[in-house]
Amino acid sequence: MEIDRGFEAVVPSNIALLKYWGKKDEGSQWPANDSLSITLADLVTKTKAFLLKEADDHRFVLHGEQLGRTAPLAGKAFRQLDFLAAKFSFPQKLLIVSENNFPTGCGIASSASGLGALTLAALAAWTEADSWQSLQEHGFDRPYLAALARMGSGSACRSFWGGVVQWEAGAQAEAQRVYPLVEAKHWQLEDTIVLFSQHEKKVSSSQAHQAAWSSPLFAPRLAELPERAEKMRLALAAKDMEQLGPLIEQEALEMHAVIMTASPATHYFDEHTAQFLAWLRRIRREHKIAVYFTLDAGPNVHLIGEKAQQERLRPLLHRHFPQLKYLYDQMGEGPSLRMRMESPAPYLFPGKSHAT
Ligand code: PMV
Repeated sequence: MEIDRGFEAVVPSNIALLKYWGKKDEGSQWPANDSLSITLADLVTKTKAFLLKEADDHRFVLHGEQLGRTAPLAGKAFRQLDFLAAKFSFPQKLLIVSENNFPTGCGIASSASGLGALTLAALAAWTEADSWQSLQEHGFDRPYLAALARMGSGSACRSFWGGVVQWEAGAQAEAQRVYPLVEAKHWQLEDTIVLFSQHEKKVSSSQAHQAAWSSPLFAPRLAELPERAEKMRLALAAKDMEQLGPLIEQEALEMHAVIMTASPATHYFDEHTAQFLAWLRRIRREHKIAVYFTLDAGPNVHLIGEKAQQERLRPLLHRHFPQLKYLYDQMGEGPSLRMRMESPAPYLFPGKSHAT
């Protein structure tokens, strides 16, 4: 099989401060509420897309292993490729080679960076666009790329910009907007991620999103959110961690309360997470460290705070929880695109891949 030129996208993960949880419409990926997130710098998905000549289907290689259409981690990727190919009538099949530099599918938003990078690399390959400018000339400006990535994973749309990014739900599905709210250089927040589990979660966030409306806590939450969002924006503008911190913790706990009280109920939050959060509250009180937690749809904890505060917290973490694994990141500048990598691609088909 002949493989043509390749196009590489590097898209970072993001962590929500104001959570996207629940959808008004599944088909158009219309969220129930506005959300706000921090785009990370170093936790990224790197995806290469190569145009295949005369292939009968796309090929998807994740972490060096070729995955079929029915493999659990490949379903979303194939659905997104099928959606994009059908929408824009691209006839050519693609070889997609992707890797995350962090654990996949355990609540560190690998679907945000993964679907973002897949969308960007695939459209660059199909249009043979060799820059953001060229993609724009083909009709794919950044907001449109973000909207297309959103169809694969809602939170992916916020990974298209750096800093703090806002996703507005709007009055109709078509009126959704995603845009950068605060530049990364305005306030260099850092994220310490405490890994309680590196396993893929049993209930996907797509399944759990659907149940949100059945929680008795969901309607009161939605009523409260505009005011909370405004307070968060003010705290971000003022670089006021004492204001922002309690708001992000309330937000994470409320999202998990909705998830746990929905029908069917899901429990991403386990006893290790609960014990850890109790420890963090105590340490914060005793040592006056301004680092606050947030959680995604998984048991792992993100600790958000300024560099100096993180530097005080990290030795305590290592001393008290030497058995745990940690990832360290900070607010970043958003995705990057590298195009026209030369073939040959380092993969042979059919059969298993030979990753280099
Ligand atoms: O993008 P999805 O469908 O995987 O939803 C994930 C939503 C959360 O990560 C839990 C919250 C958010 O706003 O990112």
